[in-house]
Amino acid sequence: MIDNGTERKGGLKLAVFASGSGSDLQSIINAVERGDLHLEISLLVCNNPDAFALERARTHGIPSVLIDHRGRSRDEFEQEIRSELEKRHIDLIALAGFMRILTPDFVGRWRGKMVNIHPALLPSFPGVHAHRDAIAYGVKVSGLTIHFVDEGVDHGPIICQKSVEVHDGDTEETLGERVLEQEHIWYPKVLQWIVEGRVRLEGRKVKIETD
Ligand code: GRF
Repeated sequence: MIDNGTERKGGLKLAVFASGSGSDLQSIINAVERGDLHLEISLLVCNNPDAFALERARTHGIPSVLIDHRGRSRDEFEQEIRSELEKRHIDLIALAGFMRILTPDFVGRWRGKMVNIHPALLPSFPGVHAHRDAIAYGVKVSGLTIHFVDEGVDHGPIICQKSVEVHDGDTEETLGERVLEQEHIWYPKVLQWIVEGRVRLEGRKVKIETD
């Protein structure tokens, strides 16, 4: 597990990985700026030159690296990411809409130190079309899952899940917006639990120490 300790000088160094709009990144930035999340966002890793996440990072003075996966082998891509993480002494990674699957080698090195947010109640509806799949299936409740990353896609040990009702007539967009509202509340909260050392990984299970 993460040997962080809130007391460590300078705080835990977080890298956020994003490929798109970056609203989850924004919620993390806001929580840090409000003083609700006690870590340093030391790096944005982005693989998409058009991602608005890059603009958000720039606006808030967060260093970012654009590492385009196109034209690079998977090994080269991850090696570049790895060296950026080392350079900045990153302790923790938060995937926030990062649209690349990381190799088992990379994941293995970050076991217990890399989290992801998925917009459905896993193990239901993994993959990139969670809202579409949830609506097509006809579930009445969907939600979000924040989990440690393991070698499976949207598969690792679950830290936190929150439900969101699916309404008649919901589209991917309307359901997505309601789920995102909850993501923006819970992702920073869970990161703060990790900062406080309250999150313990025990095999497939995650124990959260309560106050
Ligand atoms: C979120 O729905 C998150 O659950 C998923 O990717 C989306 C990222 O949205 N992993 P944004 O780019 O942070 O707005």
